[in-house]
Amino acid sequence: MEQLIADLLAHPKVIETRDHMHHSIPKHDHLLRSVKYSSRFAKLLRADLRTCVRAAMIHDIDSRLGTLTTHGAVAARWAAEQGEPEAVCRAIISHMYPLGPAPTSREAWVLVLADKAASLGDFRQYLRGLINGSSQQIRRRLELSDPYYCQRPRRPRHRLLHRRLLNRPLRPRRRRTRAEP
Ligand SMILES: [Fe+2]
Ligand SMILES: [Fe+2]
Repeated sequence: MEQLIADLLAHPKVIETRDHMHHSIPKHDHLLRSVKYSSRFAKLLRADLRTCVRAAMIHDIDSRLGTLTTHGAVAARWAAEQGEPEAVCRAIISHMYPLGPAPTSREAWVLVLADKAASLGDFRQYLRGLINGSSQQIRRRLELSDPYYCQRPRRPRHRLLHRRLLNRPLRPRRRRTRAEP
């Protein structure tokens, strides 16, 4: 199966996803997990394996340039520019269903299911890493390497605390006046 995506694995655009954060883990992990589930579901649903695994490897490329509902179209456009067949692009567009457009092919349904299954796997990976501290380390590394996080203005960690306690203007205390006897 790796032969079907060998060229994509060597593509700089895919390689850079090792330094991008996605579901609090490297995006590259999410893409590979999606490929794994796509190959399983492709066999179950008798879909074209090559289309499914290539669509899975690309489906979240440049996702930050779109929204939850439109980033499928962003990745599909990139795939088309790379010369991917229409079937691959079509599967990518609808991978966020029911957010965004509905799948229009068997391969597109495979990617919808594979992406959801992979997202659950991502969550499990993150939770497991919380126990030995590796998730926190990876998150810190990705915050430094991911351009989206580097360019984002830093917010104070305890925003609510700052606003509620530290930034609250001090009101002068009212003096209690003793009631006259
Ligand atoms: Fe996505
Ligand atoms: Fe995804």
